[in-house]
Amino acid sequence: MKSALLVPAAGLGLRLGWDGPKALVDLGGAPMLAVTLSRFAAADLTPPAVVTVPPGQAAGFDRAVSALSPFPCAFVEGGAERQDSVLAGLEALPDFTDLVVIHDAARPLVSPEMVQAVMDAAREHGAATAALPVTDTILQADAEAFLADTPDRSLLWACQTPQAFRLDLILEAHRRARREGWRTTDDATLARRAGHPVKLVRGAQENLKVTTPFDLRLALRLRREEKA
Ligand code: C5P
Repeated sequence: MKSALLVPAAGLGLRLGWDGPKALVDLGGAPMLAVTLSRFAAADLTPPAVVTVPPGQAAGFDRAVSALSPFPCAFVEGGAERQDSVLAGLEALPDFTDLVVIHDAARPLVSPEMVQAVMDAAREHGAATAALPVTDTILQADAEAFLADTPDRSLLWACQTPQAFRLDLILEAHRRARREGWRTTDDATLARRAGHPVKLVRGAQENLKVTTPFDLRLALRLRREEKA
């Protein structure tokens, strides 16, 4: 079975207070995207990895990242939202791809073991995602920020990437989403909405998503600890 990697990296660094593309922010001497790609060096993936980038930035990403990547990358322009970028990336994957692993550039500390576990689960079930049982009680608010509901915590998991899918399944789900106007912030939700079971694989706190300056400080510290 031929597997490919798709890395959505077309987001901006607005919440990070950085005026370039978030994926190129420095993470201890290398762009975050290069660190993220390095986590996949040992995975059984057929190159090139498809990386979605902000419009007009393919050449800049190529210069910043290609020499540091463990495998060749194809840089594809993303869309206005993550979902649009992922569909553009899926449509650019080589025809021979059976399984696609989708992993956000913004999660640079994913472990190779987690990549393997999610790929194994997707081979067995067709669709799988890393996710972490929540430890906080989650409050659902109404539009005026009054408490509306408190879902049963024992059933709640926070969504992470990597996610992995049979390519035909996730392409069909994304194309249906485009036709029917579904909007989500991850791909496993689209697969589920299109009727496919999605296996949850226990993620890790270290696999944080770098969104705010605090996340970046934390990721830098964790990376320093890894190197020590
Ligand atoms: O914004 P957020 O961090 O949740 O985005 C998750 C991932 O999706 C990031 O790696 C980001 O670069 C990517 N993204 C994208 N296209 C967009 C918005 C986000 O590829 N339009």
